[in-house]
Amino acid sequence: MLNDRNILLCVSGGIAAYKACALTSKLVQAGANVRVAMTASAEQFVGKATFQALSRNPIYSDVFEEHDPTKIAHIDVVDTSDLIVVAPATANIIAKLANGIADDFITTSILAAKCPVIVSPAMNVNMLEHPATRRNIETLKSYGYQIIEPGVGNLACGWIGGGRLPESEDLVRIIASQFVPKHLLEKHVLITAGPTVERIDPVRFLSNDSSGKMGVALAEAARDMGANVTLVHGPLQVPVPDGVTAIAVESGQQMLETVLERFATQDIVIKSAAVADYRPKTVHTEKHKKVHGPLTIELEETTDILKELGTKKTHQLLVGFAAETEQLEDHARAKLERKNVDFLVANDVSKRDIGFRSDDNEVVLFRADGSSVRLPRQSKQRLAHELLAYFKEGLR
Ligand SMILES: Cc1cc2nc3c(=O)[nH]c(=O)nc-3n(C[C@H](O)[C@H](O)[C@H](O)COP(=O)(O)O)c2cc1C
Repeated sequence: MLNDRNILLCVSGGIAAYKACALTSKLVQAGANVRVAMTASAEQFVGKATFQALSRNPIYSDVFEEHDPTKIAHIDVVDTSDLIVVAPATANIIAKLANGIADDFITTSILAAKCPVIVSPAMNVNMLEHPATRRNIETLKSYGYQIIEPGVGNLACGWIGGGRLPESEDLVRIIASQFVPKHLLEKHVLITAGPTVERIDPVRFLSNDSSGKMGVALAEAARDMGANVTLVHGPLQVPVPDGVTAIAVESGQQMLETVLERFATQDIVIKSAAVADYRPKTVHTEKHKKVHGPLTIELEETTDILKELGTKKTHQLLVGFAAETEQLEDHARAKLERKNVDFLVANDVSKRDIGFRSDDNEVVLFRADGSSVRLPRQSKQRLAHELLAYFKEGLR
């Protein structure tokens, strides 16, 4: 994704400037051509020589330092960039960018830029929460700049709160996502993820091992491909991604109602949640008291959401997931037919290193015509992109 991409990395003078070194290195390793511009304050934190060695390119810091008389450096560098990343972005540079001030190399270049700009603020939590900074960040958003929300944690200044620059791996992932082809632009994609929770009483419930990682990876991939994504989810073991409409639910019934309300307007619906097949027939409003001897809880069947959608679908592409522990292919093909779905993604959850909770997955994708393709073990993120490429082909 990053191979041969021209990225201008603008480093301003915050304590997190050192993290920009690792970012430069990782982007270069991923094949990008990284050119680094620094403010005078940034040079107080990290020397030019470090960025020069890591990027293998000269460093830009002074507007009047021009080496090639045939070009104006601050214009040429943005004209030849695919993406500009400001990381870390100080409160100062954010304020200058928001107000069109052009008094150093970075601010002058960005004012002349036509390519996308990503800004990753990093500062003391009180600086970040100051109304001036919040307003300036909103202004940058109104220019179409993408703002990466800073992380929360221990800050170098001793405060605990928002203001941390994300780790370089996360920044690389966000930067790479800019180059994902926008094959799902203007498409509405609804994804369900995670387990459901079926209450027995106010403090006890029936649930399952689903982490929601696969559904969240699909939501992120669909978002990066330009789709308008709704994520209907049970309790997740991973954070809800930015840039999607997330709706938290608990029971299978709530998930059914939430999905049905939105079904008509969707182009693709992917049911990757692990919905309970059964729920307690009686839900106690008070904590159930201990009984001496065995306790029997009567269960009743829940509504099969995928089957319900299969009977209601008009133009939607419907995708189901099957978690099987035996006879994967036979069960998957039967489910595909019974539930009137367009694709069925079958995974073998009996293997401990893939499927539920794991970061990796390996699946067999079945199409409605009965044909299938095996997608080998890979990260759920990569798999999500591959699956969506198949789903896109199936769109009516
Ligand atoms: C030790 C130290 C750490 C600093 N860390 C930050 C920071 O994390 N974020 C920030 O916005 N400013 C920070 N500042 C303040 C900026 O360096 C200062 O506002 C400067 O004018 C920014 O210039 P620039 O935006 O041109 O790089 C720090 C200053 C010092 C001395």
